[in-house]
Amino acid sequence: MSFETILVETRGPVALITLNRPKALNALCDQLVTELGQALDAFEADGAIGAIVVTGSERAFAAGADIKEMAGFSYMDVYNSNFITAKWERLAKCRKPTIAAVAGFALGGGCELAMMADFILAADTAKFGQPEVTIGTIPGAGGTQRLTRFVGKSKAMEMVLTGRMIDAAEAERCGLVSRVVPAAELVEEAVKVATKIASLSQPVVAMAKESVNAAYETTLAEGVRFERRLFHSTFATEDQKEGMAAFAEKRQATWKNR
Ligand code: CAA
Repeated sequence: MSFETILVETRGPVALITLNRPKALNALCDQLVTELGQALDAFEADGAIGAIVVTGSERAFAAGADIKEMAGFSYMDVYNSNFITAKWERLAKCRKPTIAAVAGFALGGGCELAMMADFILAADTAKFGQPEVTIGTIPGAGGTQRLTRFVGKSKAMEMVLTGRMIDAAEAERCGLVSRVVPAAELVEEAVKVATKIASLSQPVVAMAKESVNAAYETTLAEGVRFERRLFHSTFATEDQKEGMAAFAEKRQATWKNR
């Protein structure tokens, strides 16, 4: 795989995708979002990959959609092409576990892209914000919806209506990120966490992910029912038999991904 706006590598069972438009603070132009989707397609199809980390640079995860690219678009341009942000959903739709490792700015579409990952690991330098209103538009890649579900109405409203950025500590306090780590350790820590996930049964991890995601789509009663059905499904896997036998026999489980 060769790309111009992202870098891809594998570290054992983990795929690492690095957004790479340093001069534009990783602004999410059409080419970058297209290439990100292609890389996710390839890694999702690769049975050797158990988890995917998406990161940026020390200065910016991504400073948003590319303002220069979209500035002149007309309504018909963006409506007819279902403008760019529909493509971003590829990350949210990835069936394999995904981690956004965020250092520096994650603004506008950058914050929205990070929120499409399963969870966000933040460097102590991370800054999150939805500044679209300050440039005459509103979040267009799920910001008003995901941010509100993740941090609650008051904080989401304040961020979306003022464009105020929050730092990593505030992001951790309000539940936007799972953890904050020193910037120098961010990628290594994200790969370490991804390696742990990738060492488990892929179908069981996929079911766990699907079930947590259902919490954002449905009522509590329906979500609990859905969870129970998936929980029952794990008993049809060889990996459930292996995992519980290995526990009883005090040995490491050998997963078959079946
Ligand atoms: N689009 C295009 N280019 C961008 C960009 C963006 N979102 N963000 C930064 N850049 C470019 C700058 O234009 C600049 O390029 P030049 O050197 O060619 O002028 C370069 O990246 C470095 O940026 P700055 O000089 O501005 O760096 P700074 O350290 O002074 O400021 C910043 C950093 C606060 C992140 C500032 O760049 C900024 O405010 N960026 C825009 C943030 C923003 O409004 N994002 C929302 C975009 S809209 C959106 O995302 C819609 C959606 O929901 C999908």
